[in-house]
Amino acid sequence: MLKETDLLEQEVQDYYGRELQSSADLKTNACCTVTGLPDQIRAGLKKIHPEVLTRYYGCGLTIPTCLEGLRVLDLGSGSGRDCYLLSQLVGESGYVLGIDMTDEQLAVANRHREWHREQFGFSAANVDFVKGNIQDLRGAGIGDAEFDVIVSNCVVNLAADKRAVLSEAQRVLKEGGEFYFSDVYCDRRIPPELVNDRELYGECLSGALYWNDFLNLARQAGFGDPRIVESRRLTIDNESVQRKTEGYRFYSVTHRLFKLPALEPACEDYGQAVKYLGGVDEQPTRFQLDDHHLFELGKIVPVCGNSWLMLAATRYREFFEFYGDFSTHFGIFPGCGTEIPYQDRTEAEPAGSSTSSCC
Ligand SMILES: C[S@@+](CC[C@H](N)C(=O)[O-])C[C@H]1O[C@@H](n2cnc3c(N)ncnc32)[C@H](O)[C@@H]1O
Repeated sequence: MLKETDLLEQEVQDYYGRELQSSADLKTNACCTVTGLPDQIRAGLKKIHPEVLTRYYGCGLTIPTCLEGLRVLDLGSGSGRDCYLLSQLVGESGYVLGIDMTDEQLAVANRHREWHREQFGFSAANVDFVKGNIQDLRGAGIGDAEFDVIVSNCVVNLAADKRAVLSEAQRVLKEGGEFYFSDVYCDRRIPPELVNDRELYGECLSGALYWNDFLNLARQAGFGDPRIVESRRLTIDNESVQRKTEGYRFYSVTHRLFKLPALEPACEDYGQAVKYLGGVDEQPTRFQLDDHHLFELGKIVPVCGNSWLMLAATRYREFFEFYGDFSTHFGIFPGCGTEIPYQDRTEAEPAGSSTSSCC
């Protein structure tokens, strides 16, 4: 049987509020970002207060492109590292709100709010931190469709009710907005005895969703066609943690989930194409939508209806030229992985041959 939610949350607060004093106290590398950081992020990090950086426990890079002037919400903002990075990127005309349930983490984030305002040269701070539970954003005073982008870094695995987190994210996003976040996933469902292990849970391992359960929950919450931006296998260097989790593989994955009600369950072919026109500062020659869509500057690329919408009905629209519409359906998008499930399939593809998957 699983622990009561209140107890689980109390233990997470103790873990991040009292037990851990810095990222060096972590027992695994689940909560450590090891990806090579873009120049813009490196430069931004240099302007962040050392105490905030010391208490960073994220597992990925959760900063999408094209943020200037936007309203961004950070779920489980901790000591505020990502909020202060985002603050620089949204600029003075934008706004960042961090929400966390642990007093000690919020205290660190709030302590340096004025210091960062000065450091960034802003006349007024564009960041706030609020105490609250990410499963109930309404309880924290956040209304419908208030944010353009939501980010979160290694937090959803710690929430007892992941379904609630996803549906709240869907509710508070504007249409065309995105939930861009990193989290830990497992290659199978984790049994209650491991979920109840305080250390494994606090270390962002045993609260992890089985990846396919996550995809289903995301779709049920209204986020059609979740896309992976990057992923890496986690290594566990601590002997006792390793022993307890033997047979389980963990991954840190960055997803982007768009709030676009017209997204379809599969990639459908309407004969559409897009051309990247450039203009995104950090991606002058190649625009990355996800781990299998890299659009080269000036090249016309056929896309499925979902990818077309992710570019045409979002803030990325101005950086692309669009060809076609949804008037004629040509079947499933080629190489999409969802194959015709009956005899005709053998004509298109010999049995047993592998198809490359586009989604
Ligand atoms: C692994 S730390 C990550 C913190 C921060 N995102 C970072 O990258 O440093 C997890 C954070 O999530 C917060 N948290 C966990 N569950 C939460 C919930 N249900 N509601 C609000 N905050 C939560 C914890 O208090 C903690 O600060």
